[in-house]
Amino acid sequence: MKPIQVGLLGIGTVGSGTFNVLKRNQEEITRRAGRGIEITMVADLDVARAKAVVGEGVQVVNDAAAVIANPDIDIIIELIGGYGIAKKLVLDAIAAGKHVVTANKALLAVHGTEIFAAASAKGVVVAFEAAVAGGIPIIKALREGLTANRIQWLAGIINGTTNFILSEMRDKGLDFDVVLKEAQRLGYAEADPTFDIEGVDAAHKVTLMSAIAYGIPVQFDKAYVEGITKLGAADIKYAEQLGYRIKLLGITKRTAKGIELRVHPSLVPAKRLIANVEGAMNAVVVNGDAVGTTLYYGKGAGSEPTASAVIADLVDITRLHTADPQHRVPHLAFQPSAISNEVV
Ligand code: HSE
Repeated sequence: MKPIQVGLLGIGTVGSGTFNVLKRNQEEITRRAGRGIEITMVADLDVARAKAVVGEGVQVVNDAAAVIANPDIDIIIELIGGYGIAKKLVLDAIAAGKHVVTANKALLAVHGTEIFAAASAKGVVVAFEAAVAGGIPIIKALREGLTANRIQWLAGIINGTTNFILSEMRDKGLDFDVVLKEAQRLGYAEADPTFDIEGVDAAHKVTLMSAIAYGIPVQFDKAYVEGITKLGAADIKYAEQLGYRIKLLGITKRTAKGIELRVHPSLVPAKRLIANVEGAMNAVVVNGDAVGTTLYYGKGAGSEPTASAVIADLVDITRLHTADPQHRVPHLAFQPSAISNEVV
């Protein structure tokens, strides 16, 4: 079977990581997906930069519409971000019958109801593992691993920038502004860092997790959102003296009155695992009625961790388009590898 063809819109940090990991781990990814996955066309405003990443053999254009119009392409990866042009391109891709993989939490948290309805009507998938907690497969955990459970609550550190700022302020006594600049330099922060520090990015992510956990429409407009800009060094120091750490948590909880959806700084006892999640790392704690409490931890941002999630979605969609039904049940899909992986 010929490889499934993918069009990539936006080849910045995450796009480059996706291209590189797909290439580097091609043999494993093909075996697991049951079919090759190839990025054959890329759209980016900076064509020269894009060409430098993908080299020869991949068509690079500056017009995303040309990628969507290509009849050979089955899946569009949207890594442009924001609600503007990205929304139009995602809806156009769906209308053209393409599956969409996106890391765009803002778009889905605000316009998800419209986008998912359009995808459903067209019989295509909009997959967004990379939109929440970077490389942690939390959407998959909620949707698949925990599918038997009635989720009671979940709480997470789901914004690396603010966790990095709080960690550095506590450990090194650095000022907020200095640490924010460092987070931007390291590529953790959003294009508009107010989304990070005002809790909006975390609210986008917890809104998406809440929708999956409770089977409800995305309702970002109903979330309570408070960031870390009102915190000072003294708050962090006093919390420490009382045996707590301050963490920006995204929380969603089933209550007798309905579902809570909120983001705010929280006092977490210092001995809890989640209190010790430092730097730009993310962690999500999920409580289900059958499984009890589970914890997911990993890198919440960055090129290859986020690419790992983008490619997981590509593989999932590719499995729907393979000849061998075994690939639709992933744990049965492991076939002998061409490279020697013998147990010694
Ligand atoms: N700005 C986000 C963060 C990037 O700091 O976590 C990953 O979504």
